[in-house]
Amino acid sequence: MNTKTLTQAACEVLATPEPIDKIRLTYAYGKAWKNGTIVDIGNTTPSSRPARPDKPVLCAPADMPKRSTGGGKRRINLIHAIAHIELNAIDLGWDAIARFGPSLPKAFSDDWVQIAMDEAVHFELLEQRLNELDARYGDLPAHDGLWEAAEKTSDDILARMALAPMLLEARGLDTTPGTVKKLRTNGDDATADIMERIGEEEIDHVAAGVRWFEYVCKVRSLKPVPTFKNLVATHFKGKIKPPFNTEARTRAKMSTGYYDSNA
Ligand SMILES: [Fe+2]
Ligand SMILES: [Fe+2]
Repeated sequence: MNTKTLTQAACEVLATPEPIDKIRLTYAYGKAWKNGTIVDIGNTTPSSRPARPDKPVLCAPADMPKRSTGGGKRRINLIHAIAHIELNAIDLGWDAIARFGPSLPKAFSDDWVQIAMDEAVHFELLEQRLNELDARYGDLPAHDGLWEAAEKTSDDILARMALAPMLLEARGLDTTPGTVKKLRTNGDDATADIMERIGEEEIDHVAAGVRWFEYVCKVRSLKPVPTFKNLVATHFKGKIKPPFNTEARTRAKMSTGYYDSNA
C-alpha cells in the first residue's frame, strides 16, 4: 500500500512543471488509484495555479495567433493550441479531485482520474504530431483562458462542472467535426485521426461533468438547467452559440435545455 493519499498525489502532479514528468506521474498515480495501491483520498488542497514550464509564454487570448487548419505554420498553430488545452485539462482533472473529491463519493475521483489519464494521452498524441511537423510544444505562445476559468470556479463544484466540462469541453464537441473535415480536405489525415479520437473521448468527459453536476444539484435540491444558466451568466463573458453537435451532446446525456434557448 502507498501511504500517499490521492489528494497528495494530485497536488504533486499539479506542482510538476514539465509536461513529460506531469504525464509520467499522471499515469503512475492513476494506475495506483485504480489498482488499490493508493486507497485514501485524504484532504490536501492544491495551490491556485499549477506549475508550468518556462515555455510556452502565456498571453491574453486577443494576442494569440489565429487557429487554422491550413498548411504549414497555421496547422502548427492549431495543434499547438489544442496541445496546450490538453495539458491544462490534465491539471483540471487533478485539481477537481483535490478540491472536490474529499466531499464526494469515490466514483467522482474514479471519473476524474480516468479523465486526467485520457488528457495525458491526448497531449502526447498532439506533441508527437508537432514533433513530426518539426515543431515542439512551447514554440508558440499560448493563452491562459482555461486556467482563468478554473480559478474562478475553484470554490464551487457546480460552477466548475458548469464551466469546464459542460461549457468549454462541450464547445470542443461542437467544433471538432468541422476541424476534422477541414484537416482531411487539406490532406492531413494524421492530425484528423488524432482530433477524431480526442472528440470521441471527450464525450465521456462532458458526460462526467453532467452526471456530477446533476448529482450535486439533487443533493442541494436545485434545478439543474436554471442553476447551470445562472452559473454561466455569472462566470462566462460569452454566449453559448450554435451550431451544436447535438448528437455528441446527447450521447453525453446533456439535455438540450442546457444549451439550446429554443428547447
Ligand atoms: Fe482531451
Ligand atoms: Fe477532456
